[in-house]
Amino acid sequence: MAGAPTHDDLAGFDPFDPATLQCPFPHYARMRDQAPVLRVDGLGMYLVTRHDLVLEVLRDPETFSSGFGGVGMPMPREDRERMEAVFADGYPRVSTMLTADQPEHTRYRRLVTKAFTPKAIAELEPDIRRIAGELVDGWIDRPSVEFVEAFAVPLPVRVIARALNVPDDRLDDFKRWSDDSIAGIGTALSIDERIAAERGVNEFQHYFADQLEQRRRHPRDDLLTNLLDARVDHDDPDIDDKRPLDVPEMLSILQQLLVAGNETTTKMLTEMIRLLGEHPDEWAATRADPARIDGVVEETLRLSTPTQGMFRLATRDTELGGVPIPAGARLVVTFSAANRDATVFEQPDVFDPGRDRVRDHLAFGKGIHYCLGAGLSRLEARIALEELTKRIGSFRLAGSNTFEYHPSFLLRGLTRLEIELSPAS
Ligand code: HEM
Repeated sequence: MAGAPTHDDLAGFDPFDPATLQCPFPHYARMRDQAPVLRVDGLGMYLVTRHDLVLEVLRDPETFSSGFGGVGMPMPREDRERMEAVFADGYPRVSTMLTADQPEHTRYRRLVTKAFTPKAIAELEPDIRRIAGELVDGWIDRPSVEFVEAFAVPLPVRVIARALNVPDDRLDDFKRWSDDSIAGIGTALSIDERIAAERGVNEFQHYFADQLEQRRRHPRDDLLTNLLDARVDHDDPDIDDKRPLDVPEMLSILQQLLVAGNETTTKMLTEMIRLLGEHPDEWAATRADPARIDGVVEETLRLSTPTQGMFRLATRDTELGGVPIPAGARLVVTFSAANRDATVFEQPDVFDPGRDRVRDHLAFGKGIHYCLGAGLSRLEARIALEELTKRIGSFRLAGSNTFEYHPSFLLRGLTRLEIELSPAS
């Protein structure tokens, strides 16, 4: 295949290479085939790309820890001191769910699951529908629109802000803090960019610490008040009593809800429109029969997985797919590569919402860290598509699109997507 990587490319594979970031899939295909557990020399980490091996890692959290929160790339002393000065202006960054292992993980996860019950999520449906409808109505009469800015960014931001009771006049800050929180994930940032992002995280922390304090004095019927009321097991197992969460723990939980929910859902919504723009028959069929929507959502998640991968750390010397993995090694479970594994999905590069096993993708992970917001983001995607298909008759991807992806190897999404549209009659 023209342009496909050679075996030599794999030996020197660089996930940060700009060309790779734009389209990693031929590289993943070669890896699944030749080196499904590939050691990336320069970065000292292992990329896991086959579906069965990704599952093996996800199902063994004792061997493959999620305690990667504090493991950044090494940095010079002067830079480290500058970073420490910024951290000193905020609350301690503590690990709760995504970057915690058992038993701490279970403790926080159980607590947050109580706030994110299927019932609580279903109750957000009218708000999601109203927000989605208002957004589309804002531009439906225009001949063209940039979909990322006009829909895919504001929908999840406004929904999670609604869930966290953040007033509308802080929505721009909310989005900025969310971007700052993920700025360093899978992206090569300069020290100045990292510092600017950590300052944004500090702002987020101070804003929510103040909101929590207000609710301590005047409780409300919301998630923040629930966090204040929550009690968790004591750190010291000999103490029988339960304790409240401290402020850094509550901030960490809030930050994860904010961050995990925004960017990922934005990327999913944008890809869904790109794929439907590339498959106008599927768009027409979905408009005619909304029962197809769930399949479109799942197939988008499989084929255009927003969270391409996540880190794990080996807690002991072990072996994966025949490759020895030393204790302390860093792995990336590459969900997006597993989602195109031909042993699970026939013709894996084809967009086919009606395919068998459409829900066997790993876009939300698996096991104890399975995405807490899977139900919410599926609901957002379904309602978004319902409202879009009601209001837009037909659309096409504008010729001016360059289809450029954000330069991150963990979160994959388009920077912009221009569509030309005709409203439904
Ligand atoms: C399309 C949208 C989304 C995608 C693709 C996605 C993807 C993922 C993945 C792959 C994981 C597992 C990470 C791992 O195994 O280390 C995860 C975990 C998580 N997600 Fe999502 N997510 C999405 C939306 C959301 C939303 C809307 C929320 C919350 C409002 C959310 C909150 C979380 C949290 C808190 C975790 C950590 C769970 C834990 O460690 O127990 N996500 N997500």
